[in-house]
Amino acid sequence: MTSQTTSKGHTLADLVQHDRVHTSLYTDPAIFEDEMEKVFANTWVWVAHASEIPEAGSYKTGYIGRQPVVTVRDRKQQVHVLLNRCRHRAATVCEGHKGKTNSFVCPYHGWSYSLDGALRGVPSPESYGDLLDKADYPLVKLRVEEYAGMIFATFKDDIEPLVDFLGPAKKWMDLFMKQGGGFPIKVGGEHRFRFPGNWKIQLENTTDAYHFPLVHKSFLSSVDKQTEEMLDFVEGPGFVEDLGNGHSVMVMIPDLVDLEANLDAPIPERFAALAEELRADYPEDQVRRIVRAVGGSGFNLNIFPNIACSMAFFRVLRPVSVTETEIHHAVITMDGGPEAGNRARLRMHEHFQGPMGFGTPDDSEAWERVQKGSNAGTDQWILLNRGLAKEQETADGRRSDVSAETGMRAAYRQWKKLMTA
Ligand code: FES
Ligand code: FE
Repeated sequence: MTSQTTSKGHTLADLVQHDRVHTSLYTDPAIFEDEMEKVFANTWVWVAHASEIPEAGSYKTGYIGRQPVVTVRDRKQQVHVLLNRCRHRAATVCEGHKGKTNSFVCPYHGWSYSLDGALRGVPSPESYGDLLDKADYPLVKLRVEEYAGMIFATFKDDIEPLVDFLGPAKKWMDLFMKQGGGFPIKVGGEHRFRFPGNWKIQLENTTDAYHFPLVHKSFLSSVDKQTEEMLDFVEGPGFVEDLGNGHSVMVMIPDLVDLEANLDAPIPERFAALAEELRADYPEDQVRRIVRAVGGSGFNLNIFPNIACSMAFFRVLRPVSVTETEIHHAVITMDGGPEAGNRARLRMHEHFQGPMGFGTPDDSEAWERVQKGSNAGTDQWILLNRGLAKEQETADGRRSDVSAETGMRAAYRQWKKLMTA
């Protein structure tokens, strides 16, 4: 493949049409290589929630595309995203996933860096004579901006501010953060897994309501009748909306868009025992606010290219290779909130997203099968035309019924824009 033409003779621009994308987007290693540069190194990418680095010296490691980075809070509370690469001979300077430190000391020859990335010391400096000016070798720092506690970084100094990139997605992020039930939100732990498939298969899934009744049949059979009815949303009044710049939202349960509204509504059966337990410590209005928040938001927000805010967790995706993707599922808890509420959150999270849960293992089998099936045939297309006929323009973008493929079309429009720029 040249930079613009694939082995099948398609140009990159041809591969994404308004109602379909070419299978090679899942299978072509050259396209994957291009994505690391033109998508992941070329836009805002989510790296952490502020609660994951709460204090001076708190850090979290991760990746932007395939490049290892460390997100760290310095002594002045400023957040830095640093390339995790020693300026001597490239070893990573931090291998822990999350933790606290005073500095980053490279394990290979002992160069040490302060929390803002400055090179502080090198062992036995005499041998360098005057060849090494420490000011020339800080850890490389990326541009960082934050909205609603969500920290994003970019390699680009000249792209739009984060708030402009997020655009109408900001209002949905604000709504999502209401699930603290009056307490600040805190990432309460996460688990990671990989599936043998391309990262965009997962990206598509976050706003794919169409699969829910079928793939999640075993989950639906494991919940009470009232919850099962609530989750019967494919023919319901929800919608999916393209929010621009690749972002989209899928509203499954309109009643649960604003968790601080309708606080007088009856408490669902599944939360009756929790409400009773909370009444020992909280007044009735606060009990209702917490209980309503515990169940999570009734929508999934997809922020291109790597983070989803879904029900009561963050889903982060990390491309590993053209046929392998790592997913992080981070459960959201109430910081300083009632233990019973947070416990209920964790159990709910395990029930669907957990490794032994009734939801995610079924999803990941479907994703794996998409990748496997993509190897059949040599020149075929993935259809994304569901709901296209009824799509309406809105103030924020365009909208269709909840099971439409509008969110996927939004993501691929942005993919095409970045890949062909
Ligand atoms: Fe880091 Fe040598 S590679 S000190
Ligand atoms: Fe699913």
